[in-house]
Amino acid sequence: MTNSRRDFLEQSVGSVAATAASLYVAGASAQEQTSKDTNRLAVAVIGPGGMGTAHTNQLAKNSSVHVAYICDVDANRAAKAAETITQQTGVAPKVVSDLRRVLDDKNVKAVWIATPDHWHAPAAILAANAGKHVYVEKPCSHNLREGRLMIEAARKNNVVMQVGTQCRSTRFIAEAIDKLKTGIIGEILAAKAWNSQIRGTIGRQQPSEPPKNLDYDLWLGPVTERPYQSNFLHGIWRWWYDFGCGDIGNDGVHDIDIARWGLGVEKHPSRIAALGGKSFFDDDQQHADTQYVVYEYPGMTKSGKPKQLIFEQRIWSPYVQEGFENGNAFYGTTGMMILGKSGKYRLTGPKNKLIEEQSGDGPDLAAHHLNFLECIRTGARPNADIEINHLSTALCHLGNIATRTGRVINFDPEHETIRDDVTASKLLTREYRDHWAKPIG
Ligand SMILES: NC(=O)c1ccc[n+]([C@@H]2O[C@H](COP(=O)([O-])OP(=O)(O)OC[C@H]3O[C@@H](n4cnc5c(N)ncnc54)[C@H](O)[C@@H]3O)[C@@H](O)[C@H]2O)c1
Repeated sequence: MTNSRRDFLEQSVGSVAATAASLYVAGASAQEQTSKDTNRLAVAVIGPGGMGTAHTNQLAKNSSVHVAYICDVDANRAAKAAETITQQTGVAPKVVSDLRRVLDDKNVKAVWIATPDHWHAPAAILAANAGKHVYVEKPCSHNLREGRLMIEAARKNNVVMQVGTQCRSTRFIAEAIDKLKTGIIGEILAAKAWNSQIRGTIGRQQPSEPPKNLDYDLWLGPVTERPYQSNFLHGIWRWWYDFGCGDIGNDGVHDIDIARWGLGVEKHPSRIAALGGKSFFDDDQQHADTQYVVYEYPGMTKSGKPKQLIFEQRIWSPYVQEGFENGNAFYGTTGMMILGKSGKYRLTGPKNKLIEEQSGDGPDLAAHHLNFLECIRTGARPNADIEINHLSTALCHLGNIATRTGRVINFDPEHETIRDDVTASKLLTREYRDHWAKPIG
């Protein structure tokens, strides 16, 4: 890690901790604490489900914030998260199911959005337009066009928009990337990201009545109306075209983001080729369980030749590759790095001679929260700023478009359009129903 980056992370953690210490009064009664809460940053958690629970637990421990609202369209999940906050902080949050109630409250300064993917852009854009700072889960968008609208909303409203790729704030990963930038394996011409793990089946279901605790119409949001099916949620919405981006946009996006970071490509690719589909699961899931994508970035090597980023996915593998369930390989002209975001890397040189092996901590959610809060204070761009994540999430969308059409995608990186392919171009956005949360632009 460079000194500047290390200092930056340390200052971030240090200053937020100091702010927290000055605001928090240990042992105060709930009533006393409520008055102190006016000094803390009032925040809300929207979608305290799987990952939203991790955010709720993290925020409950952070004495510089006050979780003023818990918002979930599933009353059971909202009640559980509210109980966590009440038990851990002594102050009960307001519980709502419609995120507009959170956005209406002028006291709320920041929101954590951990809904399914189809709600990321609609919720983040509404929140930014309401003047809230936004921490939104990855993949930042459900389609490429939404990502662009999110950037515009963040910039227009001058709010911080951090995306939930917490590896961007993880010291060990940043150090590994800095090591690559020293030229230790020569010039990196190609990088690979892989997602190799074993997932479960979602079976086959017919439409049925939604459970009483769920506001299904709110859960659908601006998605074209369709009847409820029990294998839409929770968590498993990600395997459906209407709601998720498949595993490339789920676990894959973390590794693709690291691959792009290490490869040093701060732009969109120009050509995308992919093959894939369902080789294993025999069920309702629509996205590929097996996928191979190559992205080409012309003119990016020192001599003006293309660099390549490769993604591989097999979500039916009861074993890991190169020692890691999900990982990265960086291929340089004099050596190679194998990196697992769980906290290990290995550098080898010519004739596979070991250069160096390092291990450290895995993904650091606390540091990512602190970086977001620090940027709210300073106005700086966060480590996983929406513009950075849009480039990585776009790779998931483009990979899915190439996989679904079975064609090489010729992409115009400047205008974010696909050349000469009407069917593929349609997948750069989606159809929305007439709804208050429909992203406009
Ligand atoms: N950063 C990470 O490492 C990480 C890990 C896991 C998941 N995630 C991301 O977190 C997000 C959530 O994934 P999950 O597995 O927790 O899903 P989940 O289905 O378990 O949770 C989503 C929650 O959002 C609620 N919800 C849906 N629409 C809502 C709305 N309009 N307003 C309020 N609440 C709403 C649901 O009821 C549910 O409780 C996804 O985008 C996923 O990619 C990130």
